[in-house]
Amino acid sequence: MADVTITVRPNGSFRVEGPIKLVDGNGAEWDLAGKPAVSLCRCGASTKKPFCDGAHTKIGFAAAEAAVVAQDPAAAQAVKGDNAPKAAPNS
Ligand code: FES
Repeated sequence: MADVTITVRPNGSFRVEGPIKLVDGNGAEWDLAGKPAVSLCRCGASTKKPFCDGAHTKIGFAAAEAAVVAQDPAAAQAVKGDNAPKAAPNS
């Protein structure tokens, strides 16, 4: 079982729970000491990026992502979006 859980909140942030290290593009680390979880902005409107400040509610951010559980291999292939051309059958 994973030590970290990331929850995609409906119309909101990514909630990250568990032991993580959060760094910027230069490798500098945010001090998350004492925080068992953080919420990361995915709407782009937060003034405290990368953290969510609740601005998503003010801008009407809408996102309906949900995990899809494939029931059979054909459905799983469809979820992966495999549209590669198939070889022509021999005639
Ligand atoms: S997701 Fe909350 S401010 Fe962007």
